[in-house]
Amino acid sequence: MAAKWAPDSWRTHEARQLPAYPDAAALSAAEAELVNYPPLVFAGEARELKADLAKVSAGKAFLLQGGDCAESFAEFHPNNIRDTFRVILQMAVVLTYASKLPIVKVGRMAGQFAKPRSGDFEEQGDVSLPSYRGDIINDIAFDPAGRAPDPARMIKAYNQAAATLNLLRAFASGGYANLYQVHRWTHDFMGRSPWSKKYSDLADRIGEALDFMAACGVNPETVPQLKGASFYTSHEALLLPYEQALTRQDSITGDWYDTSAHFLWIGDRTRFEGSAHVEYLRGIGNPIGMKCGPSLEPDALLRMLDTLNPGREPGRMTLITRYGYDKIEAGLPKLIRAVQREGHPVIWSCDPMHGNVIKAPNGYKTRPFERILGEVRGFFAVHRAEGSFGGGIHCEMTGQNVTECTGGAVAVTDDNLADRYHTHCDPRLNAGQSIELAFLLAEMLNQEMMNRAKAAA
Ligand code: TRP
Ligand code: MN
Repeated sequence: MAAKWAPDSWRTHEARQLPAYPDAAALSAAEAELVNYPPLVFAGEARELKADLAKVSAGKAFLLQGGDCAESFAEFHPNNIRDTFRVILQMAVVLTYASKLPIVKVGRMAGQFAKPRSGDFEEQGDVSLPSYRGDIINDIAFDPAGRAPDPARMIKAYNQAAATLNLLRAFASGGYANLYQVHRWTHDFMGRSPWSKKYSDLADRIGEALDFMAACGVNPETVPQLKGASFYTSHEALLLPYEQALTRQDSITGDWYDTSAHFLWIGDRTRFEGSAHVEYLRGIGNPIGMKCGPSLEPDALLRMLDTLNPGREPGRMTLITRYGYDKIEAGLPKLIRAVQREGHPVIWSCDPMHGNVIKAPNGYKTRPFERILGEVRGFFAVHRAEGSFGGGIHCEMTGQNVTECTGGAVAVTDDNLADRYHTHCDPRLNAGQSIELAFLLAEMLNQEMMNRAKAAA
């Protein structure tokens, strides 16, 4: 029998990656303020997402999760929110068509502010300052005042998340996500891009499917499902004082939910046994994710699953694997076998970003597109061989035309990286690279679905 859980029971556990706030009174004041703020999401929505994810774990839907590595106060602008949302929808349309499965769309948006770091301090010359941990904690500029963790930033982040979520909700239900509209963007985008030939066949077939349905009387005016899209938010549950302050008891079920987002995940650095982050996540009713890297042993994974999903509820647990293109085929099978042996219902999602970071000769942190694709290919190959369902993709991307990852059809080269390198943390796919990834993923998923049909016949 597990010990009793409370929103603050994490405080008696080992907490890594939390900032050392110099002013305890200011921290308490910010927490007290947040406790009285409205929840950002409703528990019923989190349950709806869990039901959608249960379909993914049964192989009847596919998960698409994407957005910034780190949201920032500086990049807070309606156009940025709109453009990232639009690219996620474009990816979703392509994937829906290829897989013939509903796509569960989840943004790393409206709350993805806090970042784990490998060191507590950053040295420049002979100056040592606290590492930048995301805009919800301190400032990216290397100066003593800015780098001091400031709890008032939690209030600003909450407000930015609330405004972002409000716009996303408006886009999702107000007509912006209309399927015709989303397809038209992709069509126009193809017309302008040098790789249009490679993918225009698939785009044309989507257009034909829509025309056929329209001729049958199925259009966004007659069928509301074509007019609006479901869309959920997510972030890493890292800054526990913030998450605790937004943890609320659902009036309908009496269960506790983290109302800062629909979906929360735990990172590779905070998922150790005895961790405060694990303790916090085990008590909330939201669907949750866990990053799984090469250091995770099958036994440790199974113990985590027993802690985080003791009731073996489908849709509760998403395992986000991040190995690196050259490690996934050796590392992933043993996790899949352990999970299959124990019969835990999980969603397997591929994060092809975090295991594939390299330093370009000019010093920029980048991710070569070919390696990202390589990990996605390896992911599907392993799941096919193990007879399990590779059910999702988790990527760091933006709707802006940045130059942070190299490669892609409109190739970003090492020399281009300096042109528009805007990320506050890891390099993101730009709009074109994201859509290209969706087309390539579509080919793989389509193949998976044909294999499945063949096996069933
Ligand atoms: N409502 C469906 C969904 O959310 C279909 C849909 C409407 C859609 N607009 C979309 C799918 C935009 C992807 C992108 O899946
Ligand atoms: Mn990242």
